[in-house]
Amino acid sequence: MPQDPQNSSPAPGDPFGWLEEERERRRRAGLVRSLRPRPADSPLLDLAGNDYLGLARHPEVTAAAADAARRWGAGATGSRLVTGSTELHAELEAELAGFCGFEAALVFSSGYAANLAAVTALTGRGTLVVSDAANHASLIDGCRLSRAGTAVVPHADPDAVRKALEGFHGRALAVTDAVFSVDGDAAPLPELAAVCRAHGAALLVDDAHGLGVLGEGGRGALHAAGLAGDPDVVATVTLSKSLGSQGGAVLGPARVIDHLVNAARTFVFDTGLAPAATGAALAALRLLRREPGRASRVREAARGLYERLTAAGLDAARPDAAVVSVRAPSPESALDWAADCRDAGLAVGCFRPPSVPDGVSRLRLTARADLTDAELGTAVATVVRTAPAA
Ligand SMILES: Cc1ncc(COP(=O)(O)O)c(C=O)c1O
Repeated sequence: MPQDPQNSSPAPGDPFGWLEEERERRRRAGLVRSLRPRPADSPLLDLAGNDYLGLARHPEVTAAAADAARRWGAGATGSRLVTGSTELHAELEAELAGFCGFEAALVFSSGYAANLAAVTALTGRGTLVVSDAANHASLIDGCRLSRAGTAVVPHADPDAVRKALEGFHGRALAVTDAVFSVDGDAAPLPELAAVCRAHGAALLVDDAHGLGVLGEGGRGALHAAGLAGDPDVVATVTLSKSLGSQGGAVLGPARVIDHLVNAARTFVFDTGLAPAATGAALAALRLLRREPGRASRVREAARGLYERLTAAGLDAARPDAAVVSVRAPSPESALDWAADCRDAGLAVGCFRPPSVPDGVSRLRLTARADLTDAELGTAVATVVRTAPAA
């Protein structure tokens, strides 16, 4: 049986020698990852980022970031419980909760940290977490850190959640992405909420891809499903996609938020979100309130991309929000395809194992509210022209 290089005995005097073997294994599988710095004035048409509403460079948003840095400093200076809490954080929390329809909110330094916080602080030894097989890595890591029993259930399958909850009589939490990052499909939230209620379980929904895109004026997937503000429902969001900034938040009943302030390790032991990011997210949220049409525009752009790509014969997944993914024959061909798009002036994402739960590599295109019809046409023509032979 081949030995896992991570577990093989180290060569004497070279404790990191196994890394070469590991790198070679990745190379053979076509799974090497590398960093490519993005120039500030990149000429590429960007369908790779998550700036769904085109707000990351909006002058009001960048001015708010600069003002906040000047007023409060470049960093938060400490944990939110020590010196890191500013009026800006409180304002953002109140406005975000109000906008999405929840009683209260708590801002974290990233969406990743918000997910770790929500899962770990709401579970623990002897409790049960029921987790969709296609959940984001941050929810998965939350399950791993929680010490709870975790049942990983088939993707978007409320009946599987019901079976996992049946017969368990302790505290239970079902966790799901609202919109899955790989295929851009939406979770069956009303059905999941009904199953959770029937079994006395709480529901935690990661609305990273729903905020700003789904629901009335971009109020998110839970608002759209009529579940926002329910006493047994908690949401997490990131400030780094539709709001064009950085950071994350947990939204839910005030008693849940109060518990997180006291018990969530990624809140207590982490420096507060930087003032610039907080100010930028607040400005973006206010812009979205003022211009709710941005949410419907990004949905239309995603649908347009999907329709044109499938009409050209590509294997694209029907998008429920802004993400449109197109299947590739192999990790290597996905990588080459993305590189060919880039050479032709188009930036697209490339998802390969382990970022894809089913092992199928994909190109990942993200629609934006500020893309023109001509840009959408150029993007589709480029993806089609560079597609690998079937
Ligand atoms: C579904 C989902 N949840 C959480 C996150 C993490 O958010 P952040 O980038 O703010 O850490 C992401 C971002 O990639 C995501 O796609």
